[in-house]
Amino acid sequence: MSGFLTLGKLPNFKVKRMKGDRVTFVLLGGTGDLARKKLLPSLFNLYKKGKLDEFDLIGTSREDLSDEEYIGEVSTALEEGREWEKFRENIRYLQLDFYNSEDYGKLRSHFLECGDHRLFYLATLPDHFDVITDNLNKRDLVNDSSKVLYEKPFGDDLQTARNLNQCVSELFPEEKIYRIDHYLDKELVGDLSILRFSNSIVEPLLTSNSVNHVQIIASEDFGVKDRGEFYDRYGAVKDFFQSHLLQLLSLVGMSRPKKLDARSIRDKKVEVLKEVKILDSMTGQYRGYRGEKGVKDDSKTETLVAVKAHLDNRRWNGVPFYLLSGKNLARKYSEIYVEFERPDAGYPAEVGNLVPNSLVVSIQPDQGIYFEINTKVPGKMSTEPAKMQFCHSCHHGPNTPSAYENLLAQAIAGDQRSFVRYDEIEEQWKVVSRLNPSEPVTYRRGKVPSELKKFITEGSWHGLEG
Ligand code: BG6
Repeated sequence: MSGFLTLGKLPNFKVKRMKGDRVTFVLLGGTGDLARKKLLPSLFNLYKKGKLDEFDLIGTSREDLSDEEYIGEVSTALEEGREWEKFRENIRYLQLDFYNSEDYGKLRSHFLECGDHRLFYLATLPDHFDVITDNLNKRDLVNDSSKVLYEKPFGDDLQTARNLNQCVSELFPEEKIYRIDHYLDKELVGDLSILRFSNSIVEPLLTSNSVNHVQIIASEDFGVKDRGEFYDRYGAVKDFFQSHLLQLLSLVGMSRPKKLDARSIRDKKVEVLKEVKILDSMTGQYRGYRGEKGVKDDSKTETLVAVKAHLDNRRWNGVPFYLLSGKNLARKYSEIYVEFERPDAGYPAEVGNLVPNSLVVSIQPDQGIYFEINTKVPGKMSTEPAKMQFCHSCHHGPNTPSAYENLLAQAIAGDQRSFVRYDEIEEQWKVVSRLNPSEPVTYRRGKVPSELKKFITEGSWHGLEG
């Protein structure tokens, strides 16, 4: 849908209200970037798919907007669909200053008409998390069936994350707290533990006996867009490495949990995070970054980070894990690449180059899992590589739910498996505190800096172009 709906043109609407299982979303940061780009479209998609029949959405921000104006803003964030007319009936707006305790009181009167199952989504900077949490508690807004969702980054460093954890846990039990890392809700990331623990041909291979090295790559083909001010304060290490890359590392590295429930999985991930030993790291900044809106002229913030690490345990003894996240590289893709030891088939040289076998979990844009193996060329005693492939979209169709749809659905269902526990967050920040990268090297847009090429001593970055 395009354009704002203008005031006065909207028909008056009457909404049938009921208590019970109806979900109430309170979106703190309701006019922000995340709300527009991810949260509102995901809610609408859930609604269109019939996964969200009964709900209320209360958008909040400091702006002075009427319900109608806010609904107009929401409409600009969504793709057209005939369900919109019904969807919008459930939307309300409340002007709320995070720092004004009185404002939170106004939510109470909104709640009189809503269901008791409340989801407070803090789509704000972490600076406001403690004050919002405190006010939600003071005003007694978080009832037994409520959940409080915190966007990433959760803290700025280990100390602020600890303080936040302490503040939050004094007020609410961990079962109500949902720390978000949307990578955990991507289909293929959710698939990782299924791939590993339900396939007896995979799990035994994932040890230092067979694996040469592992790469976890998240490459983006765009810069900081309109998030310059935010990004300049965080950079690739805090924005991406601390959260998404370390979560992926913990899922690849963890040993088999007793059960595939939230507690057991998180216990195992924490074990891995404690074992991360940093061997090397480097950072980069794309040329032109300092000219981006909101970025300081002399900024040293990194837009690319690469880390080489070991996991200090018997299973992964000596296996290098390479982690990479970078903006303005040649293409957008995220994947996990596991390279196995080079084959020594004992064949004569004319057989040709045997490729090392590999297992690739392609998270995006293509979703799938494949093994690369050596196969024989017909009629010749030579080999060529071939893929044994599971293409997710060929099998399940192209419109799998987005990460934010999944995470909202799981929060509604009270499934904390793909949310981050307090101790994971703290261990992630501890890993960051052990990094000691030198100043960023400069790289051209779409180009891999030579320092990054050299950084990986086993082979080359899988799929990285430029
Ligand atoms: C966010 C980061 O968490 O993830 C962004 O703050 C990044 O900088 C984004 O671009 C990438 O998410 P996705 O789902 O597009 O890979």
